[in-house]
Amino acid sequence: MSLKSNIRKSDLPKHIAIIMDGNGRWAKQQGLRRVLGHQNGTKAVRETMEGAAELGVKHLTLYAFSTENWKRPKLEIDTLMKLLVSSLKKELSTLVKNNIRLSAIGNLQALPPKANKELHEVMDKTATHTGLTLTLALSYGAREEIVKAVKDISEKVKNNIISLENLDETIINEHLYTQNLPEVDLLIRTSGECRVSNFLLWQIAYAELYFTPVLWPEFNKEDLFKAIVNYQQRERRFGKTSEQLQ
Ligand code: IPE
Ligand code: IPE
Ligand code: MG
Repeated sequence: MSLKSNIRKSDLPKHIAIIMDGNGRWAKQQGLRRVLGHQNGTKAVRETMEGAAELGVKHLTLYAFSTENWKRPKLEIDTLMKLLVSSLKKELSTLVKNNIRLSAIGNLQALPPKANKELHEVMDKTATHTGLTLTLALSYGAREEIVKAVKDISEKVKNNIISLENLDETIINEHLYTQNLPEVDLLIRTSGECRVSNFLLWQIAYAELYFTPVLWPEFNKEDLFKAIVNYQQRERRFGKTSEQLQ
């Protein structure tokens, strides 16, 4: 029986974020080139977004390319960017079928023009969808995001648009790429690595963290459901005592 029936609909994470890791190691295990690991990773993306949409999760954010990933060999970067364009073209029908809205966070201007253009086309075409919001983190780094926010806020303070006395968490939130997203409830990382790798540092302040050894190309709906079942077994106290929550 699917784990899906064990999930309480009343207590779904509103926002799930995933660090999709392990494509390279999966390819190596299969005796394939790294590129084929990335290619097979796109199947896991489809599985995951369909699984999330099926359950009624509102926000899914996927870490697809970090600011640090620009340091990889040029050939791998080029392949990843081409794969992004072809996947966007190919998956548009999946987004339409499942009423999914595509969004993106990160320094999108750093992407090759072709990738940036395709991304914006698919975002425009899905802008009115009301189901799951799928956000791709592309050329995303949390530190870069924070530096940008500090610069933008400083500029506004200098020009008397924001007063220093009023500066608070809400204002900081409004200057992050994720301004329209709720806080992350559940952060999943695949491939057994237990680190955050510069992903959503501010936004995961109270997220539940879930690490699985499954390599990303093998991650499927059942793995997503398993993570959510695990999430629902936890007590989120937000600093309070257990008794206070009763
Ligand atoms: C994740 O898989 C995809 C990206 C970071 C773009 P990796 O390519 O990091 O795979 P491993 O970690 O080398 O196995
Ligand atoms: C994190 O994975 C980035 C993405 C999944 C896009 P990496 O494979 O780049 O992370 P590190 O370098 O091993 O921490
Ligand atoms: Mg990796």
